[in-house]
Amino acid sequence: MTRVYNFSAGPAVLPEEVLKEAAEEMLDYKGCGMSVMEMSHRSKMFSDIIETAEADLRELMNIPDNYKVLFLQGGASSQFSAIPMNLMRNKEADFIITGQWAKKAYQEASRYGKANIIASSEDKTFTYIPDCSDLNISENADYVYVCYNNTIYGTKYQQVPDTKGKILVADMSSCILSEPVNVEDFGVIYFGVQKNVGPAGVVVAVIREDLITDDVLPGTPTMLKWKTHADAKSLYNTPPCYGIYICGKVFQWLKKQGGLEAMKKHNEEKAKILYDFLDQSEMFKGTVVKEDRSLMNVPFVTGNDEMDAKFVKEAKEAGFENLKGHRTVGGMRASIYNAMPTEGVEKLVEFMKKFEEENK
Ligand SMILES: Cc1ncc(COP(=O)(O)O)c(C=O)c1O
Repeated sequence: MTRVYNFSAGPAVLPEEVLKEAAEEMLDYKGCGMSVMEMSHRSKMFSDIIETAEADLRELMNIPDNYKVLFLQGGASSQFSAIPMNLMRNKEADFIITGQWAKKAYQEASRYGKANIIASSEDKTFTYIPDCSDLNISENADYVYVCYNNTIYGTKYQQVPDTKGKILVADMSSCILSEPVNVEDFGVIYFGVQKNVGPAGVVVAVIREDLITDDVLPGTPTMLKWKTHADAKSLYNTPPCYGIYICGKVFQWLKKQGGLEAMKKHNEEKAKILYDFLDQSEMFKGTVVKEDRSLMNVPFVTGNDEMDAKFVKEAKEAGFENLKGHRTVGGMRASIYNAMPTEGVEKLVEFMKKFEEENK
């Protein structure tokens, strides 16, 4: 068996320990004679799995009691519609556009009410996070929406935007559990799990209780109404059982690593290896302003499309997979989520040094 260094932006690398454990339990989960994939979602066995997963996530993120944790389906994109449907009482919301995922959420919300762009970094191809210290918040806005870590462009908010009292909704798909956040700064935090937590399809929403009501937009499908799932403890219908089981294992793995403070330290040290190299390289350049760099997604370019393609090809041959940048931006991107070992980044940098030497 050969495992590659997988720099995919998502679905992405998961802890090997978790995959091995899941493999061992595949045919017979804890002596019950079946796989978690095969068991009833109403069984005691599965109740334990989902309840433990929720308790571990609550502990890791220090989630206050007045927030619900929902395990949902439909990926992060399903929440692009659910958020306006559940929150747009005044039919108005403010958006900060920092990349394609924020834009998609904005476009979807525009179908249900007045969506305002109150800040954007599109003028410089999303290479920075706009100043959010004195935003022009709309009086009637039901909430302010941000994408906290921009998977494609490699930027991340370093400070919580000042929403002047309005509810803050954050898509944290690509930075969740990479460092601590103060949950109380947000009304809603949600994340597709396929980057830092588990298999694609599951989306976890952490929502302040008072925002979960029957007062949703007319026509909201039952499955997109948060209250449906909150009332049923995420078991309104068959949940993505196997995905939730893997998420639970990753939460336990994170606890063993020392929790989110330890992950932050590990991620900072790991990202620094790559950023330090990019800052002194003659050939490779990071594309994001230094202050707003993501610890999870690191885009870089040589400035020459042919050289970029040569690099991606040779890197793949050397066992470094999925380094090609997003199809809309080109260049390269190394996604270095929690489960990417430091050694993977050290080896990548070694390879980049050698490539630079050989292609001067
Ligand atoms: C920040 C962010 N939000 C949302 C999505 C969309 O997630 P999904 O494919 O689960 O709908 C992605 C990418 O997969 C993402 O990186």
